Amino acid sequence: MKHTVRTISKERTQIFFGDGVLSLIKKQTSALSVNQDNIFILADSQTRSLCLPVLFDHVPYLSGSKVLEVEGGERCKSIETAGFLWQKLNHYGADRNSLLINLGGGVATDLGGFVAGGFQRGIRYFNVPTSLIGQADAAIGGKTGVNLENVKNQVGLFYPPTDVFIFPGFLKTLPKNHLRSGLAEIIKSLLLSDPIHWRKLQNIPVNSLLDEQTESLIWKKLISAAVAYKVKLVRKDFHERNIRKALNFGHTIGHAFESFSMTDDRKPALHGEAVAAGMICAAWLSSMKTGLSHKTMKEIQNYLDAGFDRISFTVDDIPKIIELMKFDKKNQDGKFRFTLLAAPGSPRINVSCEPHEVSEALLNYSQQQKSL
Ligand SMILES: NC(=O)c1ccc[n+]([C@@H]2O[C@H](COP(=O)([O-])OP(=O)(O)OC[C@H]3O[C@@H](n4cnc5c(N)ncnc54)[C@H](O)[C@@H]3O)[C@@H](O)[C@H]2O)c1
Repeated sequence: MKHTVRTISKERTQIFFGDGVLSLIKKQTSALSVNQDNIFILADSQTRSLCLPVLFDHVPYLSGSKVLEVEGGERCKSIETAGFLWQKLNHYGADRNSLLINLGGGVATDLGGFVAGGFQRGIRYFNVPTSLIGQADAAIGGKTGVNLENVKNQVGLFYPPTDVFIFPGFLKTLPKNHLRSGLAEIIKSLLLSDPIHWRKLQNIPVNSLLDEQTESLIWKKLISAAVAYKVKLVRKDFHERNIRKALNFGHTIGHAFESFSMTDDRKPALHGEAVAAGMICAAWLSSMKTGLSHKTMKEIQNYLDAGFDRISFTVDDIPKIIELMKFDKKNQDGKFRFTLLAAPGSPRINVSCEPHEVSEALLNYSQQQKSL
């Protein structure tokens, strides 16, 4: 006898973007038939004090919901924090019909999505991203997870939110270093998606963008371009078996930098800072392996160097950084697999790179003067 069961549901995520989106939350929760007292809001200490009052102003209906607070920051994206949140949900009597609303940056949406996916084998959740990384990238696409022993996103689930509400007004209170960090993911998306986007972006240096009001049209255009590109790839390849891997440009080395910066007593690099450094290395590898022109490689390096500090490490640290790359989820058969570029708008996925090539890229990065 043989049975076949459809195992993947056809659920959809709705993504709302704009100044009026928060007022849609009440309607969307009603559509799910969730009782008001069965809604939980996850926030970190910062978004609780700065963003939760904004959410309540727009959606007074939520003001009776229970708030689950975590400290915040990359170190709290852990299995221990997930355990703490599952216990909280349990104590509050959450059930299969509960709704979790993640209010925060990529840490809150990655962690909260994972918690929602694990609690009673999966409850529904909304993402209300408040950081630039959250709005342009992390809140979309259902990649959820936590870090394990300093290894980024080592435990997680593909578990999509029911709805995402992107309200640019939250960015008003986001500290500048986090805005800069978020820009790295936007730069990545524009570089991957379209040569015209990349050409236009080069006319707007990172530092001049950071001087613009976050509610200005330019910011909205940048966020919506990044969202549109991500949606396009997630729609084609939700489980990241293929083209969605393009979004990892700069992340193979970037995640290793981020993990490396969390070891010992180092100052943790912000995600986007590490990704910007990872993109400089990936552009160098692209010029070696996938035909990226020297001119474009230099343009990428110059643009990023003008906006981001370099990650500092010594030659002796290179083996440690390479060791951390062994945890990258794209690796196959013990080989590093990179997303590289042939040209802006033309990513190449699954490019196999030898450790000595990666080592050369890192050496080149560490020895090179910042190109300014
Ligand atoms: N799942 C994905 O597809 C995906 C994609 C990209 C990044 N990520 C993950 O996202 C994380 C980085 O995201 P992040 O930079 O948003 O980190 P984060 O969530 O730690 O937010 C950064 C800081 O900004 C604060 N903050 C957020 N919104 C604010 C606001 N409006 N006003 C004031 N302060 C605010 C937070 O409290 C935090 O201190 C990393 O863990 C990364 O791995 C996930």
